[in-house]
Amino acid sequence: MSVKIELMKTIPTIESTSSWLRAIRQINALFRPLEFTEKRSQKYGDFYQIVFKDAPPTLITSNPQAIEDIFTASPDKFVVGKGNQGLSFLVGDNSLLLLDGKKHKSRRRLLMPPFHGESLQKCNQRIVDITNQVCSRLEINQSFNVRSLMQEITMGVILSVIFGINSENRCGCEPSSRNRLQELLTNLLETFNNPLNSSLIFFPILQKDWGKFSPWGNFLRLKQEIKNLIYSEIDKRRDLIASGEFEGKDILTLLLLAKDEKGEKMTNEELHDELITLLFAGHETTASALAWVFYWVHYLPEIQEKLRFELNIWREGLGNCNINQLTYLNAVISETLRIYPIAAGAFPRIMTKSMSVMGYDFDPNTWVIISIYALHHREDLYPDSKKFDPQRFLERTYSNYEYIPFGGGNRRCIGSALALIEMKLVTATILANFELKLVKHRPMTPVRRGLTVAPPAAFKMIVKNRS
Ligand code: HEM
Repeated sequence: MSVKIELMKTIPTIESTSSWLRAIRQINALFRPLEFTEKRSQKYGDFYQIVFKDAPPTLITSNPQAIEDIFTASPDKFVVGKGNQGLSFLVGDNSLLLLDGKKHKSRRRLLMPPFHGESLQKCNQRIVDITNQVCSRLEINQSFNVRSLMQEITMGVILSVIFGINSENRCGCEPSSRNRLQELLTNLLETFNNPLNSSLIFFPILQKDWGKFSPWGNFLRLKQEIKNLIYSEIDKRRDLIASGEFEGKDILTLLLLAKDEKGEKMTNEELHDELITLLFAGHETTASALAWVFYWVHYLPEIQEKLRFELNIWREGLGNCNINQLTYLNAVISETLRIYPIAAGAFPRIMTKSMSVMGYDFDPNTWVIISIYALHHREDLYPDSKKFDPQRFLERTYSNYEYIPFGGGNRRCIGSALALIEMKLVTATILANFELKLVKHRPMTPVRRGLTVAPPAAFKMIVKNRS
């Protein structure tokens, strides 16, 4: 006990009894998430706690040793679902994001294979085809919204992974339903397209249905229509499987065939929640990351030159290798996810038992927030951290506790391999076919977009040439 008191004294602590101060901090974190994180770590370091009246204590860290302790701890030492409860309005109560324990483990085991290995390889051509199809409407000398373009591509990819859409359309997801779903999902996510609207997520008091023209009312109506469409796709697919007409390996089929340890299949509600989670988590994040890649590559001509050089050799077959072996492309993607990680923090972990992190003891019910942004800007790991410099990834390797754009431990992003291959193939395909330039060649500041931090919604580029 005495050891604990002694050590607790040495952890920098933010204390407050004022709920006003708490609200001001929340608003700051909402509107200026990166500056807020940065200022805090400059002031309190890489391992500090927040003790507020009427709220559980919270440990905030960007220390690699602490991150290792957390990611490698037994999963039963934390729950995550409770910390993600605020997302249930979007993904439902049965989403992977809200599960813990055995159920979380078995659902992850079920969902992982389609995002890895052979199944993922089969997606490669589809990613290239979708990119070409979406970009076919780009015209010389015309500007386009980078985020919308990338979002259309990544949405097409995730829909195809989930519903297994193929050219013969034997999957039971009609093009009209698919197009409507795509339109509704895009509109729904636009609800949170800027910091002000994102406050709907963080302040439940604002979640009021004042008719279809109010932001929340519109959100609820869109959500209901999406739900009806997904339920109808589930029913159609179930019938097709039962009649032996469908044998796909897509996620919907996989989930429809899965049984739990009691031999029970998933209910429509459970299926819906899981599908909607993957639809959201699987395209918004990757679209933002791709928008950043195009910004950096065109903002810094020397980076583009090196990248084009490597891609040209690859296309001519001189290197004779797979795209994953392109070291410069890989470094550009890694640096993009380092400098402005799409998720500024990992999911909050809530301790279920007393536990020690970096030798300090914490009580059950302590919340743990890992700041990915602060970790990725540690000067001891990433000198001159504000500089976009892919070279750093060519000169050293980073451990799973020093570089974590996809989080880690038992909650590590299940779509990381898909996101990375998408980023590489989309970048290579667009650069091979187009010469682009930024409409405004100036530094771009990240903004809050729902739960993520993304390039501004108005980010535009111009097509200079088709090659
Ligand atoms: C660049 C793109 C992406 C980034 C930066 C990203 C980042 C993250 C992060 C930081 C987490 C939390 C991990 C933790 O707390 O330890 C996460 C979880 C998750 N991601 Fe991603 N993600 C991306 C793409 C995707 C894609 C393509 C999918 C599609 C399947 C996906 C599905 C998920 C799911 C389902 C979880 C929850 C895992 C769990 O709770 O066990 N993500 N992601």
